[in-house]
Amino acid sequence: MSYRRIEVLPDKAAIVARSLELVSDRIQQAIATNGRCTLALAGGSTPKPLYEALSQCEVDWAKLHVFWGDERYVPVDHPDSNEGMARQAWLNHVAIPAENIHPMPTTMADPAIAAQAYHQDIQTFFQIEPGMVPTLDIVLLGMGDDGHTASLFPHTPALSVGDRLVTVGDKNGEPRLTLTIPLLNQAHCVLFLVAGANKQDALQQVLATGAAGEQVDPNNVPARYIQPQGELWWLLDQAADGGNNYHQLNKN
Ligand code: 6PG
Repeated sequence: MSYRRIEVLPDKAAIVARSLELVSDRIQQAIATNGRCTLALAGGSTPKPLYEALSQCEVDWAKLHVFWGDERYVPVDHPDSNEGMARQAWLNHVAIPAENIHPMPTTMADPAIAAQAYHQDIQTFFQIEPGMVPTLDIVLLGMGDDGHTASLFPHTPALSVGDRLVTVGDKNGEPRLTLTIPLLNQAHCVLFLVAGANKQDALQQVLATGAAGEQVDPNNVPARYIQPQGELWWLLDQAADGGNNYHQLNKN
């Protein structure tokens, strides 16, 4: 990992404002450098106001490609759909070409077939050979109070998938689709948006360092597996930080 930075912000609104700065800046950087930007979205509730704010940004939308980091196995019009949430909050309101939106397929009978299909979609998009892992420019992630991220839940088979880009996650028996740890860790920039006191315990394990960190089993808190080769940003609110002042872990 080339760079990790933890920022503790006053509240969720401040996380949204700060993540908007970082994400819009990195979208412009990627477009300027590569002629396009590839962005994987987080689900859940925290990022929704960020997506609403992004819909007001000046972006060459034809050069942005949107993927998902994970998806509940429901149709897009289901209230739990991460794709549906992002379309309603953002993508339906900007001139992004339909072919630039790459949702995870959730209508196939077998989620494993859907995971394989998305794996293939990513391989084709990035024009990579089987076995290669592409570099997403930006990956947005949240973290559950159990330390899961994307749909990589504690002590599930998805955590040990190293030869695929996409796999089936398992939330208490409910199937999800999720990008795998190797693909997430190949990203150029990963941003975690974490708000709420209920995240304190998991965060303490995920961010533990030194001897305490060596005691932590990442299978208990899978977000600890996310150690990207590029930038890693943790945007926390004070409620999630819980007075630990995690920003003091930053190496200046
Ligand atoms: C999902 C997300 C999931 C989410 C965390 C945090 O599909 O639910 O991808 O990993 O990021 O559960 O969710 P909140 O932001 O709602 O706390």
